[in-house]
Amino acid sequence: MSDAFTREPRWDPRLFPPAARAPRAVQTVRMLRDPQGYPRALRRRFGPVFSLRAYPYRGALVCAADAAANRAVLTDHERFTGGDAAALLAPAVGAGSLICTPPPVHLDHRKLLLPPFHGARITRWTGRVRDLVHTGLPGLLTGDGVAVRPWAQRLTLDVILRVVFGLTDPARVAAFRHALNAFVGTANLAVLFLPEPLRRDLGPLSPGGRFHRRRAAVRDLTRAEIAARRAAPDRADRDDVLSLLLDARDEHGAGLDDARLLDELTGLVLAGYETTATTIAWTLHLLAHHPAARDDLIDDLDAGSDRLLKAVVKESGRLRPAVYNAMRTAAQDTELGGHPVPRHAFVAALFPVTQLDPELWPAPDAFRPGRHLDTDQMPYALTPFGGGVRRCIGVSLAQLEIETVLRELLAVAVPEPAGALEPARLVSVTLIPARGGRIRLRERR
Ligand code: HEM
Repeated sequence: MSDAFTREPRWDPRLFPPAARAPRAVQTVRMLRDPQGYPRALRRRFGPVFSLRAYPYRGALVCAADAAANRAVLTDHERFTGGDAAALLAPAVGAGSLICTPPPVHLDHRKLLLPPFHGARITRWTGRVRDLVHTGLPGLLTGDGVAVRPWAQRLTLDVILRVVFGLTDPARVAAFRHALNAFVGTANLAVLFLPEPLRRDLGPLSPGGRFHRRRAAVRDLTRAEIAARRAAPDRADRDDVLSLLLDARDEHGAGLDDARLLDELTGLVLAGYETTATTIAWTLHLLAHHPAARDDLIDDLDAGSDRLLKAVVKESGRLRPAVYNAMRTAAQDTELGGHPVPRHAFVAALFPVTQLDPELWPAPDAFRPGRHLDTDQMPYALTPFGGGVRRCIGVSLAQLEIETVLRELLAVAVPEPAGALEPARLVSVTLIPARGGRIRLRERR
């Protein structure tokens, strides 16, 4: 377990915001059973800042669940620090990745990583993302009902391998896909939360052993790509992230060594593909279950506009944010919403609660993309990509992928329900549709 967990203060009701009295095990189960409903109930009972006493926190997770508290947690970097809280993910993504890097080093890393993800540069990938969507479309259009998420995972993985590594060779793409799928299956929080001795490699059949072997397979493939690209004669003409990062220099003229590159690239791939796939799945699933909104979107797209498209993506990210929360730790004894927060406590900006706050969003549970048109949105009422200096660097790429899937798919087919609207399930930090976001696609004539 990471240092952040060793430093975490123990539970003391005088030092933390209010919490339910139920034992930790009970609160953990309630949270996992109903990851949107349970914290909303706590918010109704205690107000916008409360403590959740759940595993793996020995103290509590301090939850911020309205726009003011959300803004404080995401942007007040003196009081709430990023990086440490994500250190739990370090065995998976690599301790040197941006996600796990605390300040002050974080900003220098971020400056090196940002240019390849800038909106203008990402727009250049539009054609290639569209090609990949078209290649995958037949897989979605067959059958009576289909779970969108597995389909979208394959697509977003292909996109990220293309954008990050510049990979096009089918055999190498397949090797990566195989290794990553196996690794993601074992790199869940259940393994990461295991006490250190159990996480050790105790042979190929132990959870730790499987985790280490599969992690090594992904890292070996990544290492091979880095070596091949360093030696590539055409590197200067390439526009993939790896080629750009190999030539990136900070203000002191220093570049990224192979160890850092390995962690950064693993972090980018892991942060970028499941999140985007989950958002695609929720958006299509929600559209299938809201025929009026779906038909308005199709009409708008047919008329050559993308106004509703952007509103639909926002509304899907509001109602079912793929990433459950953004994590920070308290850098000092402080307060939030008038409640004490002890130094080193874990603090979460809880998107699914803030974004369903009835004071910010009338009829919060309704899927109404129109609410995002022509209205000034309250700052920090909608933050599916986080905020402040740690805001997601993949926003432009994710939006390009989601919008391209919707545009290309809705031009040829109409999503309809295939079963009931699915509840959300919390897997690690991702809020996924319980049955993969099943829909039926009716081809347009
Ligand atoms: C719909 C898809 C995505 C969602 C919902 C999402 C959401 C998030 C959220 C909530 C954070 C935490 C922000 C914070 O702490 O304030 C984050 C961070 C991050 N995301 Fe994304 N993300 C998505 C796609 C991507 C993609 C495509 C990439 C890259 C290829 C990416 C790379 C990252 C990185 C590197 C960070 C860490 C930033 C930092 O600590 O400075 N994400 N993302």
